[in-house]
Order: sequence, then C-alpha cells, then structure tokens
Amino acid sequence: MSAEIINAQGVTKRFGGLVAVDRVDYSLREYEVAGIIGSNGAGKTTFFNLLTGYYAPDEGKILHKGQDITRMTPQERVARGLMRTFQLTSTFDNLSVVDNLVLAFFRAHRKSSLLHLLFNTCKKHRSEDRIVAILETFDLQHARDRQVRHLSLGEKRRLEIAMAVLAEPEVLLLDEPLAGLSESEIRGILDVLGRHVGRQTILIVEHKISHVKDFLQRLTVMHDGRIIADGGYEECLRHPEVRKSYWQIDTAAEGEGHATG
Ligand SMILES: Nc1ncnc2c1ncn2[C@@H]1O[C@H](COP(=O)(O)OP(=O)(O)O)[C@@H](O)[C@H]1O
Ligand SMILES: [Mg+2]
Repeated sequence: MSAEIINAQGVTKRFGGLVAVDRVDYSLREYEVAGIIGSNGAGKTTFFNLLTGYYAPDEGKILHKGQDITRMTPQERVARGLMRTFQLTSTFDNLSVVDNLVLAFFRAHRKSSLLHLLFNTCKKHRSEDRIVAILETFDLQHARDRQVRHLSLGEKRRLEIAMAVLAEPEVLLLDEPLAGLSESEIRGILDVLGRHVGRQTILIVEHKISHVKDFLQRLTVMHDGRIIADGGYEECLRHPEVRKSYWQIDTAAEGEGHATG
C-alpha cells in the first residue's frame, strides 16, 4: 500500500450553532485519485478549506505524513510541498498563457521575485521543456500566446490546473473544477487530469457524481457535515443514505429526477 499523505482525525468545524464539518476522519494515500461528493451544503468546501489551512478546525487534527499541521497556514502547507489548489493560484489576465505558466513554474521552484521574473526571465523560459510539455498536456498550444483574458472558460480552467500541476505538489486539490463548464470542456479537463493518474495524488470535490464516476478510483460521500460512505462507486451507491442524497444531488442540479443505481 502506498504511503499516507493526509490524515484527518475527528475534524469538526462550526459556524455559530451550525456544524459544517462534524467529526470527520479521512485519509488520503499517495497516487490516489479520490473524490468527495455530496449535495450543496454537505460540508465539502469547508472540509477542503480545513485541508488547505484556510480554516482551523474547532476539534480534531490533521496530519501530513505523520506530522501535525492542524495550525499551519495555507502558505506554510504550500511551502511544505503538500498541496496546491487552483483556487489559490490566480492568473495574470493581461499576460499570455505561456508567461503565466513560466511564472507559476518559477514561483514554485526558484526564489526569484515576481517583478524580476516579469521583466527578465519570462521570454528566456518560454520554450523550456517543462513549459512546452505542460502546454501540450493541457491542450493549450493553440492558445500559447493569447492573453488569458481572451481564453474560454474551459481553457482558463485548464490553465489554472496546469499552473497548480507545475508546482509539483504532493496533492492536487480541486474544489469543483468542472463547475460552469460544458460537457465537452468537462471531458477535456478529465482527459488532461487522467494523464496524471499514477503520478499525482488528486483530490476532487464535486457536486455531481455523474461527472466524475468514471474518473475516480475512490469516492467519499458527505452529507450534513459527516462522511456517510467511502469506497468504490458501486459500494457508495448501495448505501441507503447515498441513494437518498444522490437522488437529491441529481434532481437539485438538473431540475428533473433521473436517479440511477
Ligand atoms: N463562512 C461561513 N460562515 C457561515 N456558514 C458557512 C460558511 N461556510 C459554509 N457555511 C455553511 O456550512 C455548511 C456547509 O457548507 P459548504 O462547506 O460550503 O458545503 P458544500 O461545499 O458541500 O456545498 C452550509 O450550511 C453553509 O451554509
Ligand atoms: Mg462547495
């Protein structure tokens, strides 16, 4: 079995009287391609924010390779190489795609100031192997020199994920990376993420199970702040609570009831 990267133990987060995340135990192993699904308000984003360090839990602890990181800031967790999330990686919309990638790469790997990079090194590094490869992997060659503000939503999302991947984090954390995208853009994102399976630990938070069921190796279902099922897709769907909430997820999202299972 591969090494455990993250281990959350009895993690609880309250907002006033509301228990958004309720005594959650969760562990993630190296190279897992895992997903957390659940209806709106289930606590997925709050749990995600506890993992990134954006929130500190009221109870419980979070370990990274056995070391307690419960009180570490997001920056400290990023600096440990633990995680990247595209929501924390902002793009420079007036720069080209390739220059955004160069900046992301250098910010992660070299201790150079951003201004120095902007004026001196972008040009030199546009054709570096790693940058050329990532443009290809994320299907962005055609948009290489385009300013980010002219990208489609799908292209921009691919760029943001590519920037997170360039930092080579241990865990790539993605909170609803497919939100707002068309079916073909969703296939595009899952296709590029698929090229990292076996080389990158991936944790995706997703509202709609149908989007990710063929992609994920392991599924965790949250409901009312608790984990109610964890395992394979079929296993999760057999769970009575999941059948109930899965039906709600699909109907809430589509406005029509086509529960499967
Ligand atoms: N910053 C906050 N302040 C108060 N309540 C919050 C906050 N963030 C989330 N909540 C509440 O916590 C619950 C879980 O929300 P969230 O984690 O965003 O769920 P999900 O991502 O699964 O839709 C919801 O009831 C939500 O209204
Ligand atoms: Mg959410």
